[in-house]
Amino acid sequence: MIVIQDVMPLREAIHTRRRKDEAVAFVPTMGNLHAGHLDLVRVAGERGSAVVVSIYVNPLQFGQHEDLDNYPRTLEADKAELQKYNIDILFVPDDRTMYPRGVEEGEYRPGHFVGVATVVNRLFNIVQPDIAVFGKKDYQQLVIIRRMVSDLAMPVEVIGADTVRERDGLALSSRNRYLSAQQRAVAPGIYRTLREARDALQRTKVDRSKIETEGYRKLVDLGFSPDYFKVRRQEDLGDPDPQDRSLVILTAARLGEARLIDNMEVELRRQ
Ligand code: PAF
Repeated sequence: MIVIQDVMPLREAIHTRRRKDEAVAFVPTMGNLHAGHLDLVRVAGERGSAVVVSIYVNPLQFGQHEDLDNYPRTLEADKAELQKYNIDILFVPDDRTMYPRGVEEGEYRPGHFVGVATVVNRLFNIVQPDIAVFGKKDYQQLVIIRRMVSDLAMPVEVIGADTVRERDGLALSSRNRYLSAQQRAVAPGIYRTLREARDALQRTKVDRSKIETEGYRKLVDLGFSPDYFKVRRQEDLGDPDPQDRSLVILTAARLGEARLIDNMEVELRRQ
């Protein structure tokens, strides 16, 4: 694994691999890697012959009340984890490399997903991957990136990798570290509630808005403060029409300091 900080040496290293006809698979991350990230790296290794991972804590996707400075930066531990995988290049740009004109581009502070789209767009231009792997856990992020790739006709195949879960169903996330032992015991309730909602949706003639309200209420009863519990179309997260069969249930709910997000895809039988 070679570690590269700047754009030109990265391009050279990637061109060398392309000349050997290797497909470049890319996994962008913000570091502090856990088993969920490492699974994306595994999927990338299955799909591409040269694997590039980036670690960059993107200031543009942090809101005013989210603490960018306290975001865990664990580069040495991340490198040690990545060494166990057969990855070719670890790209660790700094702010100057990613945003040469500074991060306050434009007059407004971009929202989270604009920040994500901006950094992923720049990373795609720098790395020029054939394949890029993102977790389905951040479902909205995945849909937005697919949309960007399609709208801008980018020659990148975007792969959504399944969410990695603890044995009790809790989705792996860097935010789980904010949970106390008591909250950690409650947290898998989010997965159970999603499964119950999925089972209810698969029963014919269930009212979608009733499922949303019930899911929300169950989370409140368990001790969460939900932001939303919604059933949406997988493709574009629009409100589903009665004929839509590929749905996803999405939720974000606070438990103490942690804002947990999770989702579950649902394929309805054709009627
Ligand atoms: O999912 C993440 O870790 C980040 O949003 C991403 C895609 C690396 C962009 O900074």
